[in-house]
Amino acid sequence: MRLPATGLPHADVLALLDQYRSGDADWRSGRTFSLVYFAGDDVLALLKDASLRCFSENALNPMAFPSLRRMETEILAMVADRFGHADAAGTLTSGGTESVLMAVKTARDWARADRPEVTAPEMLLPTTVHPAFQKAAHYFGVRPVHVPVGADFRVDVAAARALLTPNTVLVVGSAPAYPHGVIDPIPALAALAAEHGILCHVDACLGGMMLPFAESLGWPIAPWDFRVPGVTSISADLHKYGWAAKGASLVLYRDRELRRHQYMGFADWPGGLWGSPSAAGTRPGGPIAAAWAVLHYLGEEGYLRHARTTLAAAKKMRDGIECIGDLRVLGEPAISVFAFTSAIVDPYVLGDAMEARGWHLDRQQRPAALHAMITPAHAPHVDAFLVDLAAAWDDVKDSTPAEVGSAAMYGLMGSIPDRTAAAEMIVAFLDALDAPADDPASGPAAASDPKQA
Ligand SMILES: Cc1ncc(COP(=O)(O)O)c(C=O)c1O
Repeated sequence: MRLPATGLPHADVLALLDQYRSGDADWRSGRTFSLVYFAGDDVLALLKDASLRCFSENALNPMAFPSLRRMETEILAMVADRFGHADAAGTLTSGGTESVLMAVKTARDWARADRPEVTAPEMLLPTTVHPAFQKAAHYFGVRPVHVPVGADFRVDVAAARALLTPNTVLVVGSAPAYPHGVIDPIPALAALAAEHGILCHVDACLGGMMLPFAESLGWPIAPWDFRVPGVTSISADLHKYGWAAKGASLVLYRDRELRRHQYMGFADWPGGLWGSPSAAGTRPGGPIAAAWAVLHYLGEEGYLRHARTTLAAAKKMRDGIECIGDLRVLGEPAISVFAFTSAIVDPYVLGDAMEARGWHLDRQQRPAALHAMITPAHAPHVDAFLVDLAAAWDDVKDSTPAEVGSAAMYGLMGSIPDRTAAAEMIVAFLDALDAPADDPASGPAAASDPKQA
């Protein structure tokens, strides 16, 4: 494709765009269970209005647009306060992955300054931690040391202790981890880190903006934030349960000194004196304005209201699932993200049967399971979901192993003993996405679950 020689009229461009979008996942109907966090049309309208107000502005230069700097400072202060440490210092980022990257980069550079004897830094990562840490390990040269989780899917702290070496600079836990929605034993991990004089990061990208409100509503939430001694940094996404527009996350440090290791300045560029707080250069104003706006619009009362609806829908769904066949929810999910499995039916076959009924559940592995992330958009559809799940169960309970669909794909990928080769197949799939001759939908990792494709 080449740049059109002459431009199309505004309306024609939008019509074409809508045509492209016609095959996209229909997240509004509550039939997808990841990727979009929706708190209602009133919130969406506000996000769009606020975002458009600052659509062209750039937070790269904090002097040019003091409004963005002010909004960023206020967002960080409001969240730090909810995380039990009003003095925490942080940065807004473009998303959970950037927040995680920054936390790992900070730990590495903190160690360079404070632990110069460490020449090959390592970090302890629960096997359930988000792959963004794997990316950070790769980008920043910090060796990932994987720590197993127990039968409850929480990281095994004794195993973590055994894997700690003089090169360990960072211990990571999730609140909660994406796969099973369970919170790692943060007090024990943080105590281990403190005992060894190293850093402890809590990845609350998923749950950070839900946990404080769940706790206020009386849900039993294990300790995870800055109130836990030894926790030195926390990542939390505003664009997930903070109900903000995409492109908004944050990373907070217990003190400003630690945050300094995240920053970069360069004084020798012909283009001028240069400083940057995070990975991004240009930082769009829209997501900052939208995040700031939604915090003000909802306030504590609004966050509590959405948390109540979301948590109640998730509980109703989990309870209903456990009444179908031998389906069971894995571990003890802290909030509204969970996985379920069966010993009788292949969960992937069940997932495909639900797919045929229009419900797009994500697939998981080790163990094979189906995954759901619940928002208020799902609340009106829980009964319909359970009816269809029961019917899908009946359809597949006597089925033989599938040779097509996600069951076959996960079976194939799981059977490859060389995991590097398996990872290379995923990369080959990504690589084929823009190859004109190939139809990516027929690639090896084609899945109904774009996150895992
Ligand atoms: C626990 C956790 N950490 C980090 C991330 C990465 O966030 P993002 O997709 O915004 O980069 C996610 C995404 O789901 C997550 O669940």
